Amino acid sequence: MTVEFHELEIAAVTRETADCASFELSVPPGLREAYDYKAGQHLTFELPWEGFEVTRCYSLSSCPDLGEPLKIAVKRVEGGRVSNWMNDNLTVGDKIRASVPEGRFVLDPETRSGAPLFLFAGGSGITPIISLLKSAVATTKRSITLVYANQHPDSVIYADEIDRLVGQHPERLVVQHHYDSESGYLTSEKVRQHLHDTDIAEFYICGPAAFMELVEDTLSEVAVHEELVYVERFVSPADPDRAEGESPEVQSFESPDKFSLWLDGRSRSVPYVRGRTLLECAQAAGLNPGHSCESGYCGSCMAHVNTGQVHMRTHEALSERDIAKGVALLCQSIPASSEPLELDADSTSFRTASAVKSSYGRRVSHLAAAAVFAFMVTGTLVLRLVH
Ligand SMILES: Cc1cc2nc3c(=O)[nH]c(=O)nc-3n(C[C@H](O)[C@H](O)[C@H](O)COP(=O)(O)OP(=O)(O)OC[C@H]3O[C@@H](n4cnc5c(N)ncnc54)[C@H](O)[C@@H]3O)c2cc1C
Ligand code: FES
Repeated sequence: MTVEFHELEIAAVTRETADCASFELSVPPGLREAYDYKAGQHLTFELPWEGFEVTRCYSLSSCPDLGEPLKIAVKRVEGGRVSNWMNDNLTVGDKIRASVPEGRFVLDPETRSGAPLFLFAGGSGITPIISLLKSAVATTKRSITLVYANQHPDSVIYADEIDRLVGQHPERLVVQHHYDSESGYLTSEKVRQHLHDTDIAEFYICGPAAFMELVEDTLSEVAVHEELVYVERFVSPADPDRAEGESPEVQSFESPDKFSLWLDGRSRSVPYVRGRTLLECAQAAGLNPGHSCESGYCGSCMAHVNTGQVHMRTHEALSERDIAKGVALLCQSIPASSEPLELDADSTSFRTASAVKSSYGRRVSHLAAAAVFAFMVTGTLVLRLVH
């Protein structure tokens, strides 16, 4: 599956803060269906850059359930190419090449009605989070807590929109702003203060790496099941002039002549062609495991390495924790030894909607079984007392 790109026109530009602008995108009528999206998804943009092309992802901060026009917000990164170029140059009427919406950082329809929702955003990480927030408010009755960390009050993106949502839904939406300028960086204790129902709630995290690590570590300390935690990492792919070549050590890796891939509940044997990635080999064998950027930063092609070893050329989409658990990106992996290699693209050891669904389903059925058991015991006791 190759990702589709189209030219979209900039319909409006709004300066949200001193270093962040939002851009409304107009989709031609013939492409409306292709640009249908779920709250939390992103677009990938392709831009010419000094003789080559660069790609960057930006999350949609608009909400599909409210019929809002597609909108992104881009915050300047010091020394960054595209974020500064967009803030300085992109104006109404300009055209920009954008992929169709992609991404797994979305709400699970199976848990829409019940479980509390915790949203953790840091800085520009608010973009997918506010989309999820608006969607959950519009389509569910869930209780929602947003913890939004910024350097100071002036750096809050979408402040008015957030205030308006709190004003409209005070009974089930709690927003806690955190400003580093007033109380230092967010701490684990502060994250814990907001938590409740951690056995069934869902957690979405997006922000700078240190912020995400703090929240992820805290959730792990309070034993939140990892399948209930969704993360979106804001990273750039290596531009062609910044990409590093393969080291001689990597070139000398031995490799098996085939590997096994669990996909859609079946184990498939895939011939391995030296120098190709596991994703390329799977595609050559007629398989279509989930993937999107093919550059190591979107995480759509995650798989669990059951046996054998792989080397990843790059792995921006994964945390150290993911890698330690044996998660690999198919689009970046090559075998690192001749041992038999088996991967599981269906694995629930990383966060996908289906993983949450199965986990939630199991929890609900455990709770139901416990309730039936409690009812039977109480009923027996009552009968004994009556007789
Ligand atoms: C799914 C997804 C969604 C995203 N959504 C948003 C969003 O909604 N809003 C948003 O603002 N951002 C978002 N991002 C981040 C965005 O894609 C870019 O990563 C970000 O804007 C920085 O891009 P840039 O071109 O400005 O910086 P880059 O040019 O990529 O540079 C980033 C930093 O790395 C340094 N750097 C990079 N390469 C080198 C090198 N070889 N040597 C030395 N220094 C180097 C730069 O100096 C700079 O400090 C998202 C990312 C992803 C993956
Ligand atoms: S397809 Fe995006 S990380 Fe592999």
